[in-house]
Amino acid sequence: MINGKDSSIVIGGIGSYAPQKILSNQELAKIVDTSDEWIRSRTGIRERRIAQNGETCSDIGTRAAQAAMEHAGMKPEDIDLLIVATMTPDMPFPSTACIIQTKLGLRNIPCFDVGAACSGFLYTLEIGCQMLKSGDYRNVLIVGAEKLSSIMDWRDRTTCVLFGDGAGAVVLTAVDRPGVGILGTSLAANGAEGKILNMPGGGSNEPATTESVLERRHYLKMMGKEVFKIAVRVMEQSALDLLVRHNITPEDVDCVIPHQANMRILELMSTRMGLPLEKFPINLDRYGNTSAASIPLALNEAHQDGKIKSGDYVLLIAFGAGLTWASSLIKWH
Ligand code: ACO
Repeated sequence: MINGKDSSIVIGGIGSYAPQKILSNQELAKIVDTSDEWIRSRTGIRERRIAQNGETCSDIGTRAAQAAMEHAGMKPEDIDLLIVATMTPDMPFPSTACIIQTKLGLRNIPCFDVGAACSGFLYTLEIGCQMLKSGDYRNVLIVGAEKLSSIMDWRDRTTCVLFGDGAGAVVLTAVDRPGVGILGTSLAANGAEGKILNMPGGGSNEPATTESVLERRHYLKMMGKEVFKIAVRVMEQSALDLLVRHNITPEDVDCVIPHQANMRILELMSTRMGLPLEKFPINLDRYGNTSAASIPLALNEAHQDGKIKSGDYVLLIAFGAGLTWASSLIKWH
C-alpha cells in the first residue's frame, strides 16, 4: 500500500450537482422588495438554484458524490471514509454523511459531518488529507452540500437574494508521486465574531417554540457590511501566508477558486493580491453563494472547462460563519 505520511494526496475524481429549478433575480423581485439591478450591481448574482419536490441536502450531496466517484472510476466498496461539509443537514442527527452513505451503498466505513459553514469544504479537505496520511485509509470521499433555501427568510431582502442550493464532491487518494496534489492547507477561526453571521434558533440554546418561529429565528441572519470587510482581509491574509509557506509567489498561481459569495469581494481580492481576475473562474452569477458547496462546484466547472491543467498551481480560498476561513494550495497532478 502506498499511503502514509510521505505520500501525496491528489484529487482523483471530482463532481458537482445543482437542482434543476432556477430562481432568477426578476422572479425574486416578485417575492421581496428588490430588483435585478440592485442584486447584480451589489453582488454579481443573476440567478440561483432551488431544491424542489422534497429534494434534500443529502439528495443533492449524493448526486455530486456519485459524479465524483464515477469520475474517479471508483465503486462504493473503494471508499474508506466519507466526510460531509454542510450547515443545512437533513436533520440535527443522524449526520448527513450517514444518510449519504446509505444512498450511495457504501460499506460500514466512518462517516461524519463537519460544521465550518462556507469554509467547510476546505476543513474537510484538510481532515481527509490528514486521515489519508495516517495510512489507515486509501480513498476518502468528501462532499460539500447545501440546501440553503431551507434556512432563508424569504421576507428578508438583505439575505435571501444571496444564497442558493448545490453540492460538489471530490475523491481524495494517496499516491506515490512527490510534489503533486494538495501541498498544504491553512485553517483558522475566530468565534468571538460569530454573531455577525448565524442562525440563532433551532439549536439546543433556543429549541423551537411557537415564539421562536413567529420571531423568524430559524433563518440565517447576517450583518453584511461587517462580513464583507472581514472576509476580504482574512481570505487575502490566509492565502498569501500559505503561498509564502510554500515558496510560491502570486504570479506562480495559475487558477484561484475562491468562495463564490460576492463579485465585489473577488474584485477586491484580485486587486489586493495582485492576481488578475482572469485567473478566477467565477460561477456565482449562476448559483449565488452555496456555502460549503461553493468551492467544489466552481472547481469542478473550472476543471471541466479546461481551466485547470496538469502542473498548474491552484489556490482555493474560503470564508464563512464561525467565523472561519481557510486556504489550500494544490499542484494539479
Ligand atoms: N434589494 C434592494 N435593496 C436592498 C437589498 C436588496 N436585496 N438589500 C439591502 N438593500 C438596501 C438596504 O436596505 C439599504 O437601504 P438603506 O440605505 O435605505 O438603508 C441599502 O440597500 C444598502 O444596504 P447595504 O447593506 O449597505 O448594502 P451593501 O452595499 O453593503 O451590500 C451585501 C449588501 C450585498 C450583503 C454586502 O454587504 C455583502 O456582500 N456582504 C458580504 C456578504 C457575504 O459575502 N457573505 C458570505 C460570507 S459567509 C457565508 O457565505 C455563509
